[in-house]
Amino acid sequence: MIRTVLTAALLVALPGCATVEAQTRVTVDPASPIGTIEPEVYGQFLEHLGAQPYGSIWVGEDSDIPNTDGIRDDVFAALDALDIPVIRWPGGCYSDRYQWRDGIGERAVRTNAAWGGTLEPNTFGTHEFFNLAERLGAKTYLNINLGTGTPKDAADWLEYITATKGDRAEERRSNGRGEPWTIDYLAIGNETWGCGGHITADYYADMYSLYASFAKTEGEQPKRIISGSHDENIEYSDEVLSHPYIAGLAEGISVHVYSLPTGDWGAKGAATGFPEEEWISTLHRALRMEDVIADQIAMFDQHEDLGEEFGLYVDEWGTWYDPESEDTPALYQQNTMRDAVVAALSFNIFHEHADAVKMTNIAQMVNVLQAMILTDGPDMVLTPTYHVFEMYKPFMGAAALPVSYDAPDYTLGDVTIPAVSVSAAETPEGETVIALVNSDAKTWHSVDLSSFGAGGFTGRILTADAMDAHNSFDDPDTVTPQPFSVDGSVANLPPHSVIVLMAEE
Ligand code: AHR
Repeated sequence: MIRTVLTAALLVALPGCATVEAQTRVTVDPASPIGTIEPEVYGQFLEHLGAQPYGSIWVGEDSDIPNTDGIRDDVFAALDALDIPVIRWPGGCYSDRYQWRDGIGERAVRTNAAWGGTLEPNTFGTHEFFNLAERLGAKTYLNINLGTGTPKDAADWLEYITATKGDRAEERRSNGRGEPWTIDYLAIGNETWGCGGHITADYYADMYSLYASFAKTEGEQPKRIISGSHDENIEYSDEVLSHPYIAGLAEGISVHVYSLPTGDWGAKGAATGFPEEEWISTLHRALRMEDVIADQIAMFDQHEDLGEEFGLYVDEWGTWYDPESEDTPALYQQNTMRDAVVAALSFNIFHEHADAVKMTNIAQMVNVLQAMILTDGPDMVLTPTYHVFEMYKPFMGAAALPVSYDAPDYTLGDVTIPAVSVSAAETPEGETVIALVNSDAKTWHSVDLSSFGAGGFTGRILTADAMDAHNSFDDPDTVTPQPFSVDGSVANLPPHSVIVLMAEE
């Protein structure tokens, strides 16, 4: 992002609210769009873990919880309202243990060795996943098993899903589905430098090429995604991409980026009740996404054999906190205003790189890490992150516009981040949508939007009294979007807030 010095230090007294410290003047360049924000940038990730999908998405047809074909109705309706573009399944680390035959026909009960040894009934399998995606109108992103599977297992699975004729198509038909499904994206392996086998980049590149050579579907081929590095590490991806055959066998490579308050996997920090130091450190870590993406794209330039369409897939990202107690299901965590701000900052960065980022998948959809939805038996609550996804919907498929501004600093101790983040895009209908984020935990900031040439702006704001405000089963509406409008051109942003506005004539 080009940041020109346009900030005018200004004190504005707002009626009935705190003092605004500085004004950030935004300049937009509608004539030079960055690229289309692929709807898939708003993708989801559904891995089999302690409390997902069982009980939270999948309850089975015989459940007392209202459901349609085993998928609970309340969760489905909430997900449907997000216009989910794509879902990655079945993992993550779990995918390298997943035996697809356990999840079709007569189901096999196994333990989920990737995640705490919980019982895995396999009642949510291939049919249930593809039917869910079809009902949601979402594309499918299948992660095939490289760790404990074989190229033949993978090839057979793809044939079972997509064949129109032959024994596997017949078997699928006898299990209740005549028409083939479409696999839009295919990941071959997951975190192969870690839970996916601890294998070298060289060895993985060979395995990838072998699997990819036989991973054929009937009809249109899915886009094939290499499992790449994590965080600032680019060496692994760089080495994999140096393999002689890989460029012709892949359409993209993934990167995983998690934001931990402390940066320490042994003591990550709490999901709620955290100090301001952990507010700013979490946002600081989330903002690394900017450099991670820029470095990956720069690394692509070193590999001239990659096609024009080769892209970056941030297929796991989000916050990761310590579990609340020993009884907390694997990777279940509360979700606060901090998560909402992390989501909004991440989207603003993805928009900035709309020309290279083809898909992202927040980790994860329900009850896991930075989830959209939390469930407890029959109860369901929408998280602040859910609301950000819903508010940002106009950005899906819009043309990202370059914006220039000089954000004021927000400093605590030795950590400084920009207090304000701005993103803008032109929707396919020709409307201008603008997202504003105030990352500052204490101070209001104002943003001058006069360069948009609009008569005013209307939209919604997500904010709350406390940085760890969240929605609970007792108080599900503590953090919900509220109407917000700007008469004229100056938007006043309360501390820890996310605002999405449409420009008016
Ligand atoms: O999202 C949870 C886990 O995080 C995934 O299974 C794995 O790929 C990553 O380490």
